[in-house]
Amino acid sequence: MTTAEGFVRACALSELEEDTPKRVELGGVPVSVVLTEGEVFAINDICSHANVSLSEGEVEDCQIECWLHGSSFDLRTGKPSGLPATRPVPVYPVQIQGDDVLVSVTQES
Ligand code: FES
Repeated sequence: MTTAEGFVRACALSELEEDTPKRVELGGVPVSVVLTEGEVFAINDICSHANVSLSEGEVEDCQIECWLHGSSFDLRTGKPSGLPATRPVPVYPVQIQGDDVLVSVTQES
């Protein structure tokens, strides 16, 4: 299922657990889908510092932490809060339709 704006189904809302990232691949793009504080976010799953999967990190205060060197990325903006990462990670718009979580990896927000 793909909508005009490029939204594709990433997973079911009911399968997400609070603060437990879920890694999916959408059109070849690795994405970490995160339910936190009642909202769903989608962030590229690869740390901007090295090739590490962010979905294996912890979520706190609307940030996802890279487990390797500890940079955290804001789930709303993708910006790192501290070194060693200096570049943001792409974040993507999310839509909820019933129990479907839709993500558009063609639009970075
Ligand atoms: S690989 Fe993510 S902070 Fe270094």
